[in-house]
Amino acid sequence: LAGGDRELLLNGIRDVPDHPKAGVVFKDITPLLADPRAFSVLTDALAAAVTRVGATAVAGLEARGFIIGAPAAVRAGVGFVPVRKAGKLPGETVGESYSLEYGTAEVELQADAIGPGDRVLIIDDVLATGGTAGASVRLIRRTGAEVVGVTVLLELGFLGGRELLLEALDDVPLEAL
Ligand code: PRP
Repeated sequence: LAGGDRELLLNGIRDVPDHPKAGVVFKDITPLLADPRAFSVLTDALAAAVTRVGATAVAGLEARGFIIGAPAAVRAGVGFVPVRKAGKLPGETVGESYSLEYGTAEVELQADAIGPGDRVLIIDDVLATGGTAGASVRLIRRTGAEVVGVTVLLELGFLGGRELLLEALDDVPLEAL
């Protein structure tokens, strides 16, 4: 993103120390969401990413990937698919686990949500360790659909998520706005 738009989005993201636990600085995007001009700039940028990679669907990652991914899908004229934390989606689901600092977490997708022929762009707010996005890539591929990109608002470079994710992505573009 260029100058003014970049500043507008950055001004809408605030650091919250020690959330959700001590030592973590949480990137809070709620000021950006509350500013219609900033939210619209973000939606345009994400919709442009959808078009650029030729996606036929957006997969939004719970929870903030839902908030920013859904309007981008609508603006780009494609469908939206939620990737949820385990146990939330009704019907038949497929799941993928990933490692946390302590223990594991799991993301799920409805088994019939996407499949062969679908070209999916993954959207989320923050790329941190890359665990969530990496598990989502594996999950989407298991349905037979193709992952054509990962686009996030913000990347925390010092956590090495890009390196982890790029191993799985091959030549699939990973973009942080
Ligand atoms: C945050 C963020 C990403 C994920 C990134 O979600 O919105 O989805 O963590 O972390 P990672 O790259 O280390 O996997 P969070 O776990 O806070 O879930 P929530 O949006 O449901 O609150």
